[in-house]
Amino acid sequence: MTGERPDAAGRVLLVDDDAALLESLARLLRPEMEIRTAASGRGALDALAAEGPFDVVVSDLKMPGMDGIELLSRVSRQCPDTVRVLLTGHADLRVAMDAANLGYVYRFLTKPCPPELLLLEVRQSLERARLERDRRELAAMRRCKALLQGVVRGFSSLVEARDPYLAGHQQRVTALSLAIGRELGMTPRDLETLRVAGLLHDVGKVFVPADLLTRPGILREEELSLIRMHPQVGYELLKHLDQDWPIAVIIRQHHERMDGSGYPQGLTGSFITQGARILAVADVVDAMCSERPYRSSLGQARALEEIEQNRGRLYDERVADACLTLFRECGYSLTQSTQKLWDFGEDSLDSSHREDDD
Ligand SMILES: [Fe+2]
Repeated sequence: MTGERPDAAGRVLLVDDDAALLESLARLLRPEMEIRTAASGRGALDALAAEGPFDVVVSDLKMPGMDGIELLSRVSRQCPDTVRVLLTGHADLRVAMDAANLGYVYRFLTKPCPPELLLLEVRQSLERARLERDRRELAAMRRCKALLQGVVRGFSSLVEARDPYLAGHQQRVTALSLAIGRELGMTPRDLETLRVAGLLHDVGKVFVPADLLTRPGILREEELSLIRMHPQVGYELLKHLDQDWPIAVIIRQHHERMDGSGYPQGLTGSFITQGARILAVADVVDAMCSERPYRSSLGQARALEEIEQNRGRLYDERVADACLTLFRECGYSLTQSTQKLWDFGEDSLDSSHREDDD
């Protein structure tokens, strides 16, 4: 087997026992694509094992030992997405057509084949291979997306099942966060990150005893400390996700405050990611509007007042402004449906009461 490795638009394996013909085919195609050659069916299978898969395999029909149809039938089983082309004489057209009908061969060309026709056919075969690869990648991406959606939904439900006061909280926080993110002109990719971070922002609470989450009354300092570990626990659970997808970091920072008074790291200002600043505001608003085991809802007006009063001190100014605009000028409501959040393609305070550690 011989070959070169230029910058090529695709990888092609040529198989023919006629060395002179093989070399002339390789010379014809090499300027446009990466070419490997093999002088027999066995040699072609060795090339496949060592360097495969190829985008296209072009094989002679009649070769000693393994013929072209047997080779291409094996290629179709080993590498179903490889486009297979058979070179055949006129006398063997019937055999070639049968091979095509059986699905072993995508195209067959009769020899002698004019160089320009061969070049055109291989180009088209490469295009077909590219389309097939794109289709396969798209299908894989859809499977990943469905898997991710199921995992996120499962984890999100797990946390809320342990704390009835948290029912719907992560979805409402996500919906409001996404609305704020859109107000601020975030990119679709950042919004997608925010969506997943929002739906999972309290996932670390799976390690907090359920009794602490639902017990009315004042908690002891060590019990509060346990609850306050949930951003860090959530981070530990999710930190191995793609590094370009900072979901875990946003979750770790969703209780940080601009003046450094938050937790777990006491970060200030620009050290807090935009996603976490948004989640923080949405989290506070929803928490204050919700019932808690130790208090009833404080109401939307009080929640917005909290954001307004601490704009720039606890909460990012732009995020706070966007949130206030949404509620006061755009009629935003926490009661809107959150069902669409699961279709992938969006905590807390009151220091005069017990802190809402949502
Ligand atoms: Fe939280």
